[in-house]
Amino acid sequence: MNNDIERILIDEKELSGIIADIAAKIDRDYSERVKNGKKLLLLCILKGSVVFMGDLMKTIETPVEIDFMKVSSYGGGSKTSGAVNIILDIHRTDLGNCDILVIEDIIDSGRTLSYLCEYLRLKGANSVKTCTLLDKPSRREVDFTPDYTGKVIPDEFVVGFGLDYDEKYRALPYVGILKRSVYDK
Ligand code: IMP
Ligand code: MG
Repeated sequence: MNNDIERILIDEKELSGIIADIAAKIDRDYSERVKNGKKLLLLCILKGSVVFMGDLMKTIETPVEIDFMKVSSYGGGSKTSGAVNIILDIHRTDLGNCDILVIEDIIDSGRTLSYLCEYLRLKGANSVKTCTLLDKPSRREVDFTPDYTGKVIPDEFVVGFGLDYDEKYRALPYVGILKRSVYDK
């Protein structure tokens, strides 16, 4: 295990199970819509969601299209700043035919996803739902409930499986709690 990790919160086996469960629910909810001509667009929020997105898109059986957006709500370290900036946008002319499922690594204050959902609806998406691997509901600053949640976790700063602290630890194959000594300096 990496030396900066206090303990593993979700190991690889549990992560696979979580992703299989979510994929089955997405297939149940979207397969008919896709058969009837709508596109299921998995919208990965860079960078933290790439690992979750990669595994999820392989597990969902319904045909999907993928796209990427990059937003920032964090000033870098482990503390939230509040503002949401769009750094990379999607440019599609078929949004009216797209059922967008926003794929997020973790929901904390809820600001990123509540802003993004409103933005995508205004852009003309046929529907917008959200799927998060992790949720820290105790940290919510705005009222927001995701449509699909992998696991609710306590208020700890976690890294791995795509999640970072200062761009590090994204490639760890598990979700681990970062030692406080790493960021409380
Ligand atoms: P929100 O807008 O406060 O919900 O912020 C969500 C974003 O904050 C996530 O996409 C992550 O990039 C980041 N974030 C929140 N909590 C953690 C954490 O425990 N570890 C790593 N990143 C986090
Ligand atoms: Mg991040």
